[in-house]
Amino acid sequence: MKRRIGLLTAGGDCPGLNAAIRGVAYASYNMFDAEFIGINDGFTGLIEGSYTFMPPSDFGGILTLGGTILGTSRTPYRNMRVIEDDNVDKVAAMKRNYAAMGLDCLITLGGNGTHKTANLLAEEGLNVIGLPKTIDNDIWGTDVTFGFHTAVDIATDVVDRIHTTANSHGRVMVIELMGNKAGWLTLYAGLGGGADIILLPEIPYDLDSVIKSIEKRSTHKRNFAIICIAEGAMDTEEAKLKKKQLEQKRAAEHFTSVGQRLASNIQEKMGVEARVVIPGHYQRGGSPSPYDRVLATRFGAHAAKLIRDGEYGYTVAMDGDKIVRNKLSDVAGKTKLVPADSEIITTARRMGIGFGD
Ligand code: F6P
Repeated sequence: MKRRIGLLTAGGDCPGLNAAIRGVAYASYNMFDAEFIGINDGFTGLIEGSYTFMPPSDFGGILTLGGTILGTSRTPYRNMRVIEDDNVDKVAAMKRNYAAMGLDCLITLGGNGTHKTANLLAEEGLNVIGLPKTIDNDIWGTDVTFGFHTAVDIATDVVDRIHTTANSHGRVMVIELMGNKAGWLTLYAGLGGGADIILLPEIPYDLDSVIKSIEKRSTHKRNFAIICIAEGAMDTEEAKLKKKQLEQKRAAEHFTSVGQRLASNIQEKMGVEARVVIPGHYQRGGSPSPYDRVLATRFGAHAAKLIRDGEYGYTVAMDGDKIVRNKLSDVAGKTKLVPADSEIITTARRMGIGFGD
């Protein structure tokens, strides 16, 4: 019996999406009679009924390709059940298009928001399987997401290269890395790149403590300091605020980012030169690393096995060295944050890295 499989990538693009798509397709072709439909631009395409039949040749030559061949979009989960100005019932439209395409199942490749919508669709009776992608590595129930290690490689390279200028000029260099809620990327790149101070959303920082860590370096005859700060980092006062209050506070400060503000504060308080580097989307650009190619392939092939076995309502995950599945309903709505008391944080502290607390 032929299975018709819909593929959709949602949320921010990420290295390894195409490798995972290829993994699903090739493993499916090898295990059962499969045909594929690529849904354009994430859930937007599912809502609007924008899709294309994909012959096997579409999956060739994409293992190393960055981004997503399907296109992507951000369609916030919180609005999925909200009828907006266009008067479209998005959930009804997605169900209608799923049926119109004649799908046996839908594979959603995405991060936390995608998993919430995937679970919604599963609850609505569609056969859905999730695949965990994000450079943030913050999906609950999996040790690692594809895209994360590539981003760590890139961000670490940034930290490495910034050392040259920091050292030569005796500057404080603030490197602002991606990660709004979870600081995994900043933590790994900071540790891997030998940062002196790492500031994460999970550990609110105190400016005086950051300054003390910088001063400690000069007493050790080092005239420069490297600070890695996650874009979602906040100070101890901000950590007490509600989301709206925080937004108002930030708007009133007129800094374009947390890194800019930190550098400005350091410069003002210490009278040293502090510069900011924000690699931004560079961190999720380009070809996936070999690690992510392997991981995405394993995840994709596992999704194919789930399709073969008719097991839906799951997302694929890594547990130790095994690829497993978790219920979408268990994963949706949860975020895997860096535990402040984790071994890796303790190790970093033992190395003398300051967390600003
Ligand atoms: O979720 C991945 C991510 O890169 C986050 O680290 C970052 O906060 C966000 O996406 C940026 O999103 P966008 O590309 O839509 O600005």
